[in-house]
Amino acid sequence: MPNLYSDNIIDEIREKCNIVEIISQYIPLKRAGRNYKAVCPFHHEKTPSFMVSPDKGIFHCFGCGAGGNVFNFIMKYEGLEFPQVLRMLAKKTGVKLPATSTFSKEQKTSGDLFQLNEMAASWFTNNLKKEIGQPAVGYLKKRAYQANTILKFRLGFAPDNNGLLNFMRARGVQDGLLEKAGLVIRRETGPYYDRFKQRIIFPIFDSRGRILAFGGRVLDNSMPKYMNSPETPIYNKGSHLYGLNFAKEEIKKQDFCIIVEGYIDLLTVHQSGIHNVVASLGTALTPHQIRLLKRFTHKVVVIFDADKAGEMASLRSLDLLIEEDVNVKVVSLPKGEDPDSYIRKSGKEEFWQKVVKSFDLFDYKLNLLSQSYDMDTTEGKVEIARHMLPTIHRVDNAIRKSAYVKRLAQEFSRGEKTLGEEWILTELRKVKRDFESYTKEEFTKVEIKAKRPAEEMLLRLSLEAEEMVVEIKRHLSLEDFQDLRIREAMRTVFRLHDKGELLNEAKLISCLASEDTACLISRICSLEKEFVNQHKSLIDCIGRIKADNLKERLNKLQRQIKVAQSWGHKDKIEVLVGEYNSLIKRRGKKT
Ligand code: CTP
Ligand code: MN
Repeated sequence: MPNLYSDNIIDEIREKCNIVEIISQYIPLKRAGRNYKAVCPFHHEKTPSFMVSPDKGIFHCFGCGAGGNVFNFIMKYEGLEFPQVLRMLAKKTGVKLPATSTFSKEQKTSGDLFQLNEMAASWFTNNLKKEIGQPAVGYLKKRAYQANTILKFRLGFAPDNNGLLNFMRARGVQDGLLEKAGLVIRRETGPYYDRFKQRIIFPIFDSRGRILAFGGRVLDNSMPKYMNSPETPIYNKGSHLYGLNFAKEEIKKQDFCIIVEGYIDLLTVHQSGIHNVVASLGTALTPHQIRLLKRFTHKVVVIFDADKAGEMASLRSLDLLIEEDVNVKVVSLPKGEDPDSYIRKSGKEEFWQKVVKSFDLFDYKLNLLSQSYDMDTTEGKVEIARHMLPTIHRVDNAIRKSAYVKRLAQEFSRGEKTLGEEWILTELRKVKRDFESYTKEEFTKVEIKAKRPAEEMLLRLSLEAEEMVVEIKRHLSLEDFQDLRIREAMRTVFRLHDKGELLNEAKLISCLASEDTACLISRICSLEKEFVNQHKSLIDCIGRIKADNLKERLNKLQRQIKVAQSWGHKDKIEVLVGEYNSLIKRRGKKT
């Protein structure tokens, strides 16, 4: 993380924080020797592989590879940026942050962006009152939106005349800030122009009602139908739910939430008087959105367009909800209908009936599958089981799980041969095994191991004693380290050492720019193995790295020589062969 504050103040705050005390405010920790253990909050697991070391001031999960110091934990858990976490912990530890920090600048930028969006939204809505906005008014009327709805959701219109850019410029807003807000764009160094042209504008609010971004729909059939703000410092796609600010009270009251896909669907459902509704805005639900929703309810009713219902991909996003312990029900609408068109045709009552009588995800999925596979044959049953078992496996509640197994067996008790409960349970165990190896596989993809163990080992040694750093520096340069994360860490180690600063794990992590590197360091430092003979290990590792590098250098030269030979470049061959021979000689001397 590029530090906006002096290292000193960051050190002071970090040192005053007791990592065990702070993490235990989020998740329960259990003592295990000198360390503490927990079930990892960052991935789904049943046995704890998450570890906190109070001595080193770090945490690490051996399951998913997440790791770092106390700052990294809160950043990850709360989804906050470093300056926000720093400010939070400064308050907690009573450390005073200097007022002139860049943090206030950063906060000012997001404050500016919210304010800018507010100004833009007013301009967009105001256009509906002007001549130029009449086509948009006509469009909204055609789709039967009432004045109240338009006002509440602050719908507006963006004409095709760079009006927003000019409006903002006239008020002294810098083009650069408008670009940051995603409101204007330009090609390379060409002139700026409005991002939204000739579109109905839907402001996207956060759960507190601040405007984060905008969506825009064309008035005709041109493409693309929708256009949205890009990611900005205040807008992350997939971490908000459209309409939540207007829905949250009703969601709590009804203790369930309806999830639709689009802006238009949400507006129509809301206007019909059903207010516990949010929109995912066309994407599959993200874990972030699910967690956001869980602050208000654990029950959702998902509404699918009929054409999309058959897609197993969308069902997989529902499995994710199950995993997050959300109770999922599904409504499927007649073919070709979405909530908007359905309510227009059949009315609110019919729609509400559909919601009330929505299917449990289990039944819904089974019903879909039985349309694709023949339940009366063994092959059909096996296929259906193959799709149902992963869903059942995700159900954490044992009673519900066994009820599902029974139900599936019941469904299977027809046709030529019955696949009973026993069979299902055996298959379920296989799924469990697959899942476990699948998740393991998924996590090794995180690549938390260094490319070469010797490099990892040296980094560990450099944290054990100061003399080690001196030795490493004497024998190796940064370029000798192949793993770029280790190289980055070593660069920091060298720098802190040059400045005569004390080095420890948590501090090192603070100084590193990338989360990847932080995870790697936390893993290396969490390994239990102690060194029997530090100095010997050091010499071995250095030797190993040198030998490996030399070997790689030789291999590369060989390849280059071959290429040069094939082209008949005599001079070049001579130079390369000379280099090759002198490297071989040097290697010979050493051994
Ligand atoms: N969407 C998007 N970009 C697109 C298409 C769709 O962001 N090019 C998102 C929008 O949030 C949209 C939702 O996906 O609201 C659903 O898309 P779609 O079903 O195509 O549109 P509707 O909401 O049904 O809009 P309309 O009824 O006006 O066609
Ligand atoms: Mn529609």
